[in-house]
Amino acid sequence: MLNPSIISGKIDFDRIRADFPLLQREMNGKPLVFLDSAASSQKPRQVLDALQHYYTHLNANVHRGVYKLSQEATDAFESGRRAAARFINAGSEREVIFVRGTSEGINLVASSFGRKFFKPGAEILITGMEHHSNIVPWQLACEQTGAVLKVVPVTDSGEIEIDVFENMLSDRTALVAAVHVSNALGTVNPVEEMIRLAHARAIPVLIDGAQAVPHMRVDVQALDADFYVFSAHKMLGPTGFGILYGKEKWLEQMPPYQGGGEMIKTVTFEKTTYNELPFKFEAGTPDISGAIGLEAAINYMEKIGLDNIQAREHELLQYGLDQLSGIDGIRFYGAAKQKASVISFLLDGVHPFDLGTLLDKMGIAVRTGHHCTQPLMARFGIPGTVRASLALYNSTEDLDQLAAGVIRAGNMLR
Ligand code: ALA
Repeated sequence: MLNPSIISGKIDFDRIRADFPLLQREMNGKPLVFLDSAASSQKPRQVLDALQHYYTHLNANVHRGVYKLSQEATDAFESGRRAAARFINAGSEREVIFVRGTSEGINLVASSFGRKFFKPGAEILITGMEHHSNIVPWQLACEQTGAVLKVVPVTDSGEIEIDVFENMLSDRTALVAAVHVSNALGTVNPVEEMIRLAHARAIPVLIDGAQAVPHMRVDVQALDADFYVFSAHKMLGPTGFGILYGKEKWLEQMPPYQGGGEMIKTVTFEKTTYNELPFKFEAGTPDISGAIGLEAAINYMEKIGLDNIQAREHELLQYGLDQLSGIDGIRFYGAAKQKASVISFLLDGVHPFDLGTLLDKMGIAVRTGHHCTQPLMARFGIPGTVRASLALYNSTEDLDQLAAGVIRAGNMLR
């Protein structure tokens, strides 16, 4: 049950904050101000309770036992798949593959789709704002297949230009892989338009949705994405679990990624036949609690409403930018017209690690560094930034604390 902070459509986000036990902690003797949800979100009591309930009352392996406990565990696990399918409006549960997270989902596609469809000279088109997890798997696939990586440049405002993107699509493009929301800049890419343009040339598209699904409604059928990947731990769920959505027409043609139990139909020493979707891609005992925790997180977010979450975070983003923008020597990175939940900045004359360390002493948790986007940092000619990233449980007070902390740290360091 969600706490009574939802009263006839009016959301009291201060009450929602009380659902997150960790946010009651102190850090270095100060109340914790948690502004690193892009790295990993906090978990509401409802998710923690679902995990505890699973291990206390339902723990057994899935899809393997005729006994009732195993069947109950299987039902709870598959209920997680149904919830994930509903959450992104997948056409079928067969298109929802359980993986360890976004990175594994992308690696699965790069390895399996790559082996099947990439030929020497084929091009894989990514953007200049990708996370390393949407760069390196494609580089590995290129090494193995002779395909080549092409990169759509990023503008000074941290966007891509759609006509530049379109001009880089060609008969050689075998796949587009693009981030929906940039973890380092907050840029919301025009993925619907990108997919439409790619599909006009029959090019499939993978979208890294890790930083999108916690903050906005995503409909993979409306987007017409061929693959859409995200992690549970960034959207209030447990670590080590995520979803690869893939259109059945591709998943059916792709070879298995890993071999083991569950992904097979029959095995002899001469030949193995593979299980049907989605199990063909799920070798070994899965993270059963991950699926159960993800369902609890989805239920929690859906009760609040993705549109309400998006509106709330947009207000917070504007508020935070307003509070910080008057600070002497502050420079923001990422000024996209469509932007979500991330404020990336530097203070002139201050190293981001020093600023982050002093903020930590004040109880304020931000991420500093390259945010696993070294090529993007190189594009801006900087080693990294300080990044404050938001979630539905943040408040204007958190952003007041951040602004005050940055001013204080700046005075100490300059
Ligand atoms: N990708 C995560 C981040 O942006 C870890 O912090």
